[in-house]
Amino acid sequence: MRHLAVLAALVALAAAGPRERRQTTEYERCQDGTKVCVPYYLCQDGKVITDGSGVIDIRTASGCSNYLDVCCADPHTTDPVTPDPGHVSRCGVRNYNGIDVRIQGFQGNETQVAEFPWMSAVLKKEVVSGEEINLYLCGGSLIHPSIVLTAAHCVNKHLSSDLRVRLGEWDTQNEYEPYKHQDRDVSAVVIHPRFNGSNLHNDYALLYLQTPAELSRNVDVICLDNNPTILAPHHNCL
Ligand SMILES: *[C@@H]1O[C@H](CO)[C@@H](O)[C@H](O)[C@H]1NC(C)=O
Ligand SMILES: *[C@@H]1O[C@H](CO)[C@@H](O)[C@H](O)[C@H]1NC(C)=O
Repeated sequence: MRHLAVLAALVALAAAGPRERRQTTEYERCQDGTKVCVPYYLCQDGKVITDGSGVIDIRTASGCSNYLDVCCADPHTTDPVTPDPGHVSRCGVRNYNGIDVRIQGFQGNETQVAEFPWMSAVLKKEVVSGEEINLYLCGGSLIHPSIVLTAAHCVNKHLSSDLRVRLGEWDTQNEYEPYKHQDRDVSAVVIHPRFNGSNLHNDYALLYLQTPAELSRNVDVICLDNNPTILAPHHNCL
């Protein structure tokens, strides 16, 4: 069910298309009437508004309808955060506490912002009533700035030109992105030569991205083993 929900969310996201940053005057008023509800990272000189300890608790009512909005007197109207040019790529670094802020009060083990920076969504571009939308196919892992590893059964029936990869996405229902997601078209799909679609042996595929991902705090690679071990047949990997 959770997977279906995620899928539905991704489809919804894809259908929505790019959203414009709202003007201050369009922001919803907070309950006190004087302030407005804005995404947490747009308040206070671009610094995250929290309880002082770098934490937002979504159970504490802000008076705003969106769970990640805060009441703000003087919000930024433009996005204050630009990709960190000084980012030093490190493979496989999990941001247990998110980046900039830790969100508390989740009920279902939701991830923090950029908790798994290598996680990718593999999407299929489709034109519906003259408008291009992205359908969610499956997940993948960024193993190199230009290569995503995914399952062969997920992409073997699609043309590379129909595929797209989304990196650095967090909440598919919101453009709540202090760090923007990155979309990349796929230039080539390489299926494992011994992939067997009947029993899913060697269910691996590499997606080559048309332009490399820009590695940043929310988009980075997972580590590859430099000394791979050949495991015995029937070895349980999990
Ligand atoms: C959250 O994760 C923990 C540990 O992985 C697990 O025991 C628990 O059942 C999960 N809770 C939910 C609601 O998925
Ligand atoms: C693929 O798997 C099926 C089912 O196990 C098997 O019968 C078939 O021989 C396999 N094909 C190849 C090319 O290995």
